[in-house]
Amino acid sequence: MPSVLFVCLGNICRSPLAEGALRHLAARGGVSVTVDSAGTGGWHVGEPPDRRAQTVARRHGVEIGGLRGRQVAPDDFSRFDHVVALDHDNLAALRRLRPAAGGALLPLLLDHVPGRQGQAVADPYYGDERDFEIAWAEVSAGAAGLLRLIGGG
Ligand code: 4NP
Repeated sequence: MPSVLFVCLGNICRSPLAEGALRHLAARGGVSVTVDSAGTGGWHVGEPPDRRAQTVARRHGVEIGGLRGRQVAPDDFSRFDHVVALDHDNLAALRRLRPAAGGALLPLLLDHVPGRQGQAVADPYYGDERDFEIAWAEVSAGAAGLLRLIGGG
């Protein structure tokens, strides 16, 4: 089964949204995929997603309140086929963390969205509800592109 790990900084905003979006689209499309998310930082380990992230996901029919934060680890590069960074800082941190033998592909999420290659999903943590809606739209587009790549048609 293909496997995807989404990685942002805190694992309470963008990557849990991406995890929820991909789970939702995969279930709707009847595609089996293992999905998880993690943060490059460790401040929010064990915490549920930010309230505002839970709210925007719920508004779009996706429940992410049961997720809990964790920090990315070197063995994630052998446990997952795709380790997907939400922005450039996290991509750089993941490149430093990746073991020489780590087999996972390491793209930016928006590399999977036509016209958005090389771009970051902006951190909504210090923003407002509108910023969370933008993040939701972007992670949903990225998840849809990723699903096409891994066999969702
Ligand atoms: P995320 O957002 O990386 O999308 O989960 C953030 C959440 C928390 C912090 C930074 C970004 N923080 O500094 O605590």
